[in-house]
Amino acid sequence: MSNYHIKQFEEYFQVYRKSIRNPEQFWEEIAEEHFVWRKKWTNVLSWDFKKPEIKWFEDAKLNITENCLDRHLRAQGDKTAIIFEPNSPDEEAQHISYRQLHEKVCRFANVLKENGIGKGDRVCIYLPMIPELAISVLACARIGAIHSVVFAGFSATALSTRINDSDCNMVITSDGSYRGAKTIDLKGIVDDALEECDCVDTVLVAKRINTDINMKDGRDKWLQPLLDEAYHDCVPEIMDAEDPLFILYTSGSTGKPKGMVHTTAGYMVYTAYTFKNVFQYREQDVYWCTADIGWITGHSYIVYGPLANGATTLMYEGVPSYPDFGRFWQIIEKHKVNQFYTAPTAIRALAKQGVELVEKYDLSSLKVLGSVGEPINEEAWHWYNDNVGKRKSPIIDSWWQTETGGIMITPIPYVTPTKPTYATLPFIGIQPAIMDENGDELKGNQVEGRLCIKYPWPSIARTIWGNHQRYKDTYFSVFENMYFTGDGALRDEVGYYRITGRVDDVIIVSGHNLGTAPIEDAINEHQAVAESAIVGFPHDVKGNALYGYITLKDSGESRNHDNLRKEINQLITDRIGPIAKLDKIQFTVGLPKTRSGKIMRRILRKIACNETDQLGDTSTLLNPEVVEEIISNVV
Ligand code: PRX
Repeated sequence: MSNYHIKQFEEYFQVYRKSIRNPEQFWEEIAEEHFVWRKKWTNVLSWDFKKPEIKWFEDAKLNITENCLDRHLRAQGDKTAIIFEPNSPDEEAQHISYRQLHEKVCRFANVLKENGIGKGDRVCIYLPMIPELAISVLACARIGAIHSVVFAGFSATALSTRINDSDCNMVITSDGSYRGAKTIDLKGIVDDALEECDCVDTVLVAKRINTDINMKDGRDKWLQPLLDEAYHDCVPEIMDAEDPLFILYTSGSTGKPKGMVHTTAGYMVYTAYTFKNVFQYREQDVYWCTADIGWITGHSYIVYGPLANGATTLMYEGVPSYPDFGRFWQIIEKHKVNQFYTAPTAIRALAKQGVELVEKYDLSSLKVLGSVGEPINEEAWHWYNDNVGKRKSPIIDSWWQTETGGIMITPIPYVTPTKPTYATLPFIGIQPAIMDENGDELKGNQVEGRLCIKYPWPSIARTIWGNHQRYKDTYFSVFENMYFTGDGALRDEVGYYRITGRVDDVIIVSGHNLGTAPIEDAINEHQAVAESAIVGFPHDVKGNALYGYITLKDSGESRNHDNLRKEINQLITDRIGPIAKLDKIQFTVGLPKTRSGKIMRRILRKIACNETDQLGDTSTLLNPEVVEEIISNVV
């Protein structure tokens, strides 16, 4: 029995039990048999959730790109590693073989070195979904530089905050990007961001949309001529198992974004192993994940996990709606996609368009359908199952987080019987716990509470860049000796898990993780605003949308409220990005507060969700009268 590829339900239980009984031995075997090491570890795992400190495969030496590229060259150098499908269906797709990808990564790595980047330096990547994005990520890993990819939908302010937080020396961007029928001036955004950053010496610019852009002398360089001149091979930097591989920012309930730090060996082992099993990837398959590499899903399941398995991974530059809402299905037909991994918000948006567009295309290549990023509602699940999978491709509803690095709770297709809206069972090696509010574990089935993980897994983030205390406070201090996920979950009568949603002030909008605090900070910058509070409310496509309660400094002010709403959303777009715009804005005379002055978001959430019969006792508030006023003026 190979523990690397699970094919039957009974086998899942056997391997799961083994992975729990002796995690060190289990992961050691997986690591030993399926990866290339320059030096073996001296110790598989040491951990202490109190400090917290977690180390996997201590003292081992490796380079992740040797595992993702070099080792495939001999047996399958001509196999397609990346299929690039451009924004426009009129532009030809590119097929980049493992050999070509290896060369491109090596050239890029040499360009990085020639521009002063070395091991441990931070490089910010702000690119659209073009091959240079995957290549630059791998080029950083080749030389041991730490990549920090920032999703190219974030604003200049959001970008500069992230560049400064991790003190990046270089930014890699493009002259612009295509997004459906629109083009976006990415380089202009980078220029604005860099007004606020002193740490960046070099900006490498890929050409994509061929517009005239401003190139700052001594700082900005066109990428292509440098790549053309660079040497085609690059000896990989030998990294320690626990050397940081990348930083990826995620929202917190308060304060600035958290730069989650992932390290090399454990991340590689876990993303590769989950990829193989969760997608049941077979050698000739074409796999497509629709996420952007700017999010963790793209890091783990477009780049590292698939490439470590020698898979063919498709990168799509555009949006689901361009040139029409049949684009995803057209791509599946065109490239004969076997595994398709997307987000519930995309499924809901496409379901709205009716089934005609799906039926137009031949989707018979599909074997596995994936869902990630937010809870998938029953209706979307069935639509996906009936119309895309034709009831023959299992849906894997995979729960995980930026912090977990890889998929944590998920069915294994053709192995685990699925159940709509349930992420089902923990993946191999994962030990979930459901906790009550007093910090006690709820054992047995048919329980609901807060989701924690009891034991480390190889790809858990090791710290928050520059703020280990915050890492400890956020994830390891709420429940003793446990990693706290921030999510609620229930376990049903057979032990299946269902994720019920965030239990903190993070709101998932269209699968994007948004913290309320930075949005409120942006709103409060408006000179007319005194105070604000953001909550989520259900939305039929986005899952959740944002509802803002805003108190103006001068409540009797005669300003046009519609204009104010526009200005406020513009501010949010400028400070964070369009993904954080508010769907509803209600101007209020005050916000409900506790006697200690804390805003009662729970009450505001109930009002926004139209559940005013469940407000509970409001009489102990500092200002109970505002609740009535807010209810009578809901938008
Ligand atoms: O609330 C959970 C939700 O997304 C959060 C993590 O967001 P992020 O770090 O951006 O990573 C998203 C992609 C891995 C989780 O805390 N979430 C993710 N997947 C699911 C989910 N909620 C329910 N079901 C899922 N399958």
